[in-house]
Amino acid sequence: MPLPLRTLNCCALLLLFSSYSSAQQSGPVSDAAATQFVDALLAKMSSAEKIGQLEQAAGHHLSKDQSEELTRKGEVGSFLFITDPERANELQRIAVTETPHHVPLIFGYDIIHGFRTIGPIPLALAASWDPSLAEHAQSMAAREARAAGIQWAFSPMVDIARDPRWGRIMEGAGEDPYLGEQMAAAQVRGFQGAYIGAPDHILACVKHLGGYGASFGGRDYDSVELSENELHNVYLRPYRAAIAAGAATVMSAYIDLNGVPAAGNRWLLQEVLRKEWGFKGFVVSDWDAVKNLTVQGFAADPTDAAQRAFSAGVNMEMANFIYRDHLPELLRTGTITEPQLDEAVRPILEMKYRLGLFTNPYVDLDRFRAEQVSQAQRESARHAAEQTAVLLKNEGALLPLAKSVKSVALIGPLADSSVDTLGSWSLHSNPADTITIARGLRDKLPGVQLLVTKGVEIARGQPSVFDKQFAEPKLTLLTDQERKHEFAHAIDLVRQADVTVLVLGETQNMSGERASRATLTLPGRQEELLEAAVATGKPVILVIMAGRPLDISWASQNVPAILDIWYPGTEGGNAVANLLTGDAVPSGKLPVSWPRSVGQVPIFYNTDLTQVPESPDARYWDESSAPLYPFGYGLSYTAFEIDKLQVASSSITRTDTLHLSVRIQNTGKVAGDDVVQAYTHQRAGSSSRPVRELKAFNKVHLAAGESKIVNLNIPASELSYWSSAKLADVLEPGAFDLWVGDSSDATQHTEFKLEP
Ligand code: NOJ
Repeated sequence: MPLPLRTLNCCALLLLFSSYSSAQQSGPVSDAAATQFVDALLAKMSSAEKIGQLEQAAGHHLSKDQSEELTRKGEVGSFLFITDPERANELQRIAVTETPHHVPLIFGYDIIHGFRTIGPIPLALAASWDPSLAEHAQSMAAREARAAGIQWAFSPMVDIARDPRWGRIMEGAGEDPYLGEQMAAAQVRGFQGAYIGAPDHILACVKHLGGYGASFGGRDYDSVELSENELHNVYLRPYRAAIAAGAATVMSAYIDLNGVPAAGNRWLLQEVLRKEWGFKGFVVSDWDAVKNLTVQGFAADPTDAAQRAFSAGVNMEMANFIYRDHLPELLRTGTITEPQLDEAVRPILEMKYRLGLFTNPYVDLDRFRAEQVSQAQRESARHAAEQTAVLLKNEGALLPLAKSVKSVALIGPLADSSVDTLGSWSLHSNPADTITIARGLRDKLPGVQLLVTKGVEIARGQPSVFDKQFAEPKLTLLTDQERKHEFAHAIDLVRQADVTVLVLGETQNMSGERASRATLTLPGRQEELLEAAVATGKPVILVIMAGRPLDISWASQNVPAILDIWYPGTEGGNAVANLLTGDAVPSGKLPVSWPRSVGQVPIFYNTDLTQVPESPDARYWDESSAPLYPFGYGLSYTAFEIDKLQVASSSITRTDTLHLSVRIQNTGKVAGDDVVQAYTHQRAGSSSRPVRELKAFNKVHLAAGESKIVNLNIPASELSYWSSAKLADVLEPGAFDLWVGDSSDATQHTEFKLEP
């Protein structure tokens, strides 16, 4: 049993401040122990105290006195956005020594791709096609955050996104449900470790249930209408996988889902989440989302909003005190009952107990300092960034840079920008920690002349909610004359240098929350700069830094080498320098189909086949309907050949697994990684079956000239789907196609049967 805190005197508490090592659980808490502890606690707590546990306050919006007062009065169970460990310790001290039942606080934060050390954005992690890499990246983020007193990440975001206009596409794993499932589960394991309360780990929060990525027109926060087919077969699958991986918490979305706000959606939060998926943790609303039920034409007033969210299954309310202010009245009038209140509080208390917060809630300040931006953190971030870059084009093997290169022009508004290299959702980062591309290349190539300039400046020009953290970049070129001069200067440098690296894309605030776009073009005059650089006839490499695929149709025809580095994070510059020089070999594969132009979106590979699919001009007469680069695509500095596809048996039963193998050969001159991908197609079903669906993949490393047999397994259960005709999950016997290759255009083909 944990030591009751009230028996500790002040000295003992001071000791606790510096004895972090004993703070963390040495093994999982059993269900019986957790239930017993929470039962005993609930029996003692007043209704007001319980309601306090359901409230999360925005620490950064409150003064020191206000947050301390709230804690002392027991009106809050959690804070978000408190990252100062001394402040966290003081608030914890108040919670565990000055409130009647000594219930510790839980501190939550948006740890999307790192805490202080920033790694590549989640969309980039998905581009690694390596779930173990994503798991490791999030476990490093958890370690750094836990040392700072954060026990809960509002992450991973597992919303499928098929529309790159949506700014938050950068926070997820892209378009595919299977890749999304693997990345969702891996990130949950990364944050939480082997069990809830594992040392140096924190709670994950799967968000935003559900379907947020499908908002109309890619407009952030807009409503979502998804058929049951799309919900069950695509959008809900990564959430389900995250819950199966043990995610402790879930965040409900802002959106209306098929006409019912997610924060008041009983079907989603009870029937699906708890009953169907067996979720045992707690649900937190998104910021303002409970209050917003009134805005959405759903709740009549804040009291009604509190009642509708509470009854739907939102355990904790974020940031507005709607529960604190309205649940007491609802309890008094019998609209909600004490047992319902107990059920809402139970998982919150249980998670705090499992995390070990009742025994030691404090941060060890020495440990905190040692963990921030440690060497291990930097190495992990750099490795992740190297593994996530996608080489889209490399004509004439322009990359890696030839050893004979004497001068490099490094041009573009993002080439030396420490803030933008981090990307959006780097809320606790310090840009001073960042290695920019300019810095990385300078360190990597000391003997090479590096000619650096912006060429053009870009700015969103419209305020972002996150500008408080990183101000919108100030445009320094104020007059037309200055702008012309800078542009001409950049092109001069292109002419002078042996080779040019142009780093173009979007500033960090052009991507993320409230950062949707109606176009996908390179902002500002970047396209013009690119075209002028290419027109010099000198070799140009385009490095794209962005959180979404952009319209690079012209570049795909006219620029010999294109490398997408997403937002690579704190160590981005070192990673990019390694990639450009060949010390790291690109191995990322697209987690999204790359559109040719904005008119093609939403675009994704696993569509259903309908009328005249073989006729390329039937879909659009003014544009191909194929993506510019397909899902799963990415080049290397070496080349791979995949052949000899075999299945162990051409017919499997409903309980079997399809075992398949292919040979992969590295036919080039350097070692590299490739991702072997298996896609199936059910030839006929009770509902139309998509043209192909990813069912298995494996990233493999091959030395130059090496060949390997890669085995992949597809359990028959993976072939099941939700049938719109049967209104149920089905696993239907029949003939299937199987393709294996290293993109969704895979050509190695065979077939197999699923027996009745
Ligand atoms: C709103 C965002 O939608 C959500 O993802 C985030 O976790 C919360 N704000 C807290 O910052």
